[in-house]
Amino acid sequence: MSGVNTGSRGAISAEDLSMSETREVMLDIQGLEVHFETRRGIARAVNDVDLQLYKGERFGLVGESGSGKTTMILALLRMIKTPGFIAGGRAVFDDGTDLLRLSPEEVRENRLRRVAMVPQGAMNSLNPVMRIGQQITLTMREHGEEGTKVEFQDRVAQLLDQVGLKPEVAQLYPHELSGGMKQRACIAQAISLSPRLILADEPTSALDVVVQRQIMQTLRQLQLQLDATVLLVGHDMGLMAQFAERVGIMYGGKLVEVGAVADVFRNPQHPYTQLLISSIPSFERRGTFKGIPGVGLSLLDSPTGCLFHPRCPQAMERCSRDEPGLTQLGPGQHVSCLLYEKDESHATSA
Ligand SMILES: Nc1ncnc2c1ncn2[C@@H]1O[C@H](COP(=O)(O)OP(=O)(O)O)[C@@H](O)[C@H]1O
Ligand SMILES: [Mg+2]
Repeated sequence: MSGVNTGSRGAISAEDLSMSETREVMLDIQGLEVHFETRRGIARAVNDVDLQLYKGERFGLVGESGSGKTTMILALLRMIKTPGFIAGGRAVFDDGTDLLRLSPEEVRENRLRRVAMVPQGAMNSLNPVMRIGQQITLTMREHGEEGTKVEFQDRVAQLLDQVGLKPEVAQLYPHELSGGMKQRACIAQAISLSPRLILADEPTSALDVVVQRQIMQTLRQLQLQLDATVLLVGHDMGLMAQFAERVGIMYGGKLVEVGAVADVFRNPQHPYTQLLISSIPSFERRGTFKGIPGVGLSLLDSPTGCLFHPRCPQAMERCSRDEPGLTQLGPGQHVSCLLYEKDESHATSA
């Protein structure tokens, strides 16, 4: 597990501490590790991730394709399938429940009630031969909700209303809905049991820009209504800037930078984040991550030291040797980069 160092800007100040006190931590993720066993060896898809999600916040997770975003979400839902497995860490809710240590039965109870997901390509997750109202009702029943047919009809109508759909949509089949409407129906299903944490994996990536923005707006209203925490995975920086309060940047399964969205976008600290931000023509408009120049990282053949050092324009000699820990730069701002750590091996030998 990475230790937290104080950065080159000095020790953690009283202001930092008061900031961390004012926001209540809802989910504390420590040392999360997810591995995939492949024929060529073990791929560390999520690599020692520490992250605290606050109560009622909108957190954005960004990074190139293959950086481990989906895997991290699936780990929290305990939906990692073989050849993958959770190899370590914990994810503890504010009531003491560790999501990574629930029994299979508890996992089922927990899902939807406590943690719900709007999956990647959610629109294709609807059952094509079932009416929308039936699907939402069935899901609620499967999670232990009881009631009469009329009671469920009322609840479905209310859920559809919350996501901006007319009650008649309950009678329709998925193919009768537009992409945006299908996505809204999936969100209605996800919030049906008022989860405290909503994990949304690129929920709008297949839709056109206008519809994307409208759906993000709905998600934001719901988050406020439910006082839920939303972890949004995405690669559209414009949407992220609009939606999230804080963002985390992933590279090769590691969380390399975390901070307030405005700080990270205007003043990125990690060399990888700097390259990503500068590679976007104008993230105020509609910049998307396409990745940065250079050969992508192979998780099976990963470099020693910092994973990013072979592509890093600011790499120092020790970057190929030492693995960076998390350095706190300011209130709620962390970076995992040796540029911000004191070189203790040199300091002691000097
Ligand atoms: N079924 C699988 N088998 C082997 N490796 C996998 C599998 N699924 C994911 N991975 C590994 O996990 C990494 C992260 O994947 P993923 O979480 O889907 O990334 P992202 O969502 O950021 O695009 C991939 O680069 C790959 O190495
Ligand atoms: Mg993904």
